[in-house]
Amino acid sequence: MAEFSLPKNSKITSGKQFSSTNKGSQSKKFYIYRYDPDSGNNPSLDSFELNMDQCGPMVLDALLKIKKELDPSLSLRRSCREGICGSCAMNINGKNTLACTCATEDYPSDVHIYPLPHQPVVKDLVSDLTHFYAQHASVEPWMKTQSPTPPDRERLQSIEEREKLDSLYECVMCACCSTSCPSYWWNSERYLGPAALLTAYRWISDSRDEATGERLDELEDPFKLYRCHTIMNCTDVCPKDLNPAKAIAEIKQLMVKRKL
Ligand code: SF4
Ligand code: SF4
Ligand code: FES
Repeated sequence: MAEFSLPKNSKITSGKQFSSTNKGSQSKKFYIYRYDPDSGNNPSLDSFELNMDQCGPMVLDALLKIKKELDPSLSLRRSCREGICGSCAMNINGKNTLACTCATEDYPSDVHIYPLPHQPVVKDLVSDLTHFYAQHASVEPWMKTQSPTPPDRERLQSIEEREKLDSLYECVMCACCSTSCPSYWWNSERYLGPAALLTAYRWISDSRDEATGERLDELEDPFKLYRCHTIMNCTDVCPKDLNPAKAIAEIKQLMVKRKL
């Protein structure tokens, strides 16, 4: 019988324990994945106990407090702290999400934080998203036109045409969806994943874009598009409440329609 186990150097060991010296009425424990490839050690799970009376409300606030006061070597990405840049994506208590938009009080007990799953880890909570970004670039996420000369003024859209882009253009490229998709876990070399496909559909839906046929031709591939099996994890986790699974289904429908 096949035996599945992690490679020895992937096994997570128990790590160090840190605690705020200033104990308050409300303390909370954060268990955080730590990995430093330069150390040669296995990953570990460090625990940090914080006084929540003196901490901002979001999980990102807690992480920044930990970094500032308990362990400055903790690595994570963040920028806007407003759910706009997409850089603080991580796995919190089993779900991919943005640390800056998750209130700590929504996690009644301990909080477990890991990097986005199924991506190489650069250090601690920082995943290597090089491949994810390359896939995004591969759908050519910009307006393409055939017109020989540019128009004298803006390319206008009707209100209805503009509305077709709602729930598509708001993607912040956080990768929460793609890294929670089982099809993407097993086929990420060839399946584009929900984030890139949602962006592809955003441009296919844009009335100003003149490359719809070319874009569909590019996606007409057993792996790039058709590895989506409508499992819906992507839509379930999207922190911007977008629906990549629906966008993928719409592309599939367009593929069928153009053959009729
Ligand atoms: S619906 Fe498709 S893209 Fe979304 S999680 Fe499922 S297989 Fe992945
Ligand atoms: S669709 Fe949602 S989860 Fe996926 S990358 Fe965009 S914002 Fe993130
Ligand atoms: S810090 Fe920008 S989305 Fe969280």
